[in-house]
Amino acid sequence: SRRWRRVPGSSSPRPMPESVHEQGNGPASGPTSGQAPGQVSGQASGQASGQAPGQAPGQAPGQAPGQAPGQNPAPASGPASAQASPVPVIAIDGPTASGKGTVAGRVAAALGWHYLDSGALYRLVALAALRAGVDPADGPALAALAAGLRPRFEGGRILLADGEDVADAIRAEAVGVAASRAAAQPALRAALLALQHAARRAPGLVADGRDMGTVVFPDAVLKVYLTASVESRAARRHKQLIEKGFPANIVDLSRDLAERDARDMQRAQAPLRPAEGALVLDSTRLSIDETVAAVLEAYRRRAAH
Ligand code: DC
Repeated sequence: SRRWRRVPGSSSPRPMPESVHEQGNGPASGPTSGQAPGQVSGQASGQASGQAPGQAPGQAPGQAPGQAPGQNPAPASGPASAQASPVPVIAIDGPTASGKGTVAGRVAAALGWHYLDSGALYRLVALAALRAGVDPADGPALAALAAGLRPRFEGGRILLADGEDVADAIRAEAVGVAASRAAAQPALRAALLALQHAARRAPGLVADGRDMGTVVFPDAVLKVYLTASVESRAARRHKQLIEKGFPANIVDLSRDLAERDARDMQRAQAPLRPAEGALVLDSTRLSIDETVAAVLEAYRRRAAH
């Protein structure tokens, strides 16, 4: 049977489009649409970063009104929760290489909303820790690194204070593994919370990560849990790494992905799990376009109520 699954506590399941598959439909058929996830560059807006949405190469045009690509917006004026009508958020969580980045970037572009790649923030801290010789288990030291980072998100580039573009460097597997370790530290999670909240800016935000729907934006209008088989995620990540010129081996990648999944799901702090009421989408056999369409359709249904 093919259907969208909602986790307990949600409204009743609805029939899903023919193209959307239930989890556990068998082995991966490889990357969808010939496109690896994560091609959407990490973009986070807020005090220290700021971004123009919808800048991924090859993605549909779209950007927040009044904001040109490459511009860093002014700092947020206050917590969204204090506003009468909070800025809407679509939260897209899921395991590594599930296609969250690509899907979230395209959904943001289609709606003209901002896009937050929260994983990029953890990766930036991990890169800084690796370079500074900081132990990725040293929470307070990681939090200090996070506080000192002033990344600027410009199109596909992520610029450090000295102007170095680390958009590719943070995608290295070693940085991802260190980010996963660092992300288990409560002090670092707390240090990155305000930055993520500051990304919530009108007209809306699409945020991707592990805890967008469960912790960071619990009032998100739509919560999506995007997953895919380990095999297809490893194939996608392999393609993505090769394209960026990094060495990659499918067997090692599959093992690393499984280990990282386990670590992200089993940690005490903000573990990876579907938020209550989340739409669970398995993209193993879906193209990027089909996945994006499913998210937009779910949002439009929510927004209509
Ligand atoms: O999505 P990603 O692979 O770029 O994320 C890198 C790591 O950061 C991931 O292994 C777990 C962590 N992370 C997190 O704990 N919470 C988030 N919201 C995003 C990422």
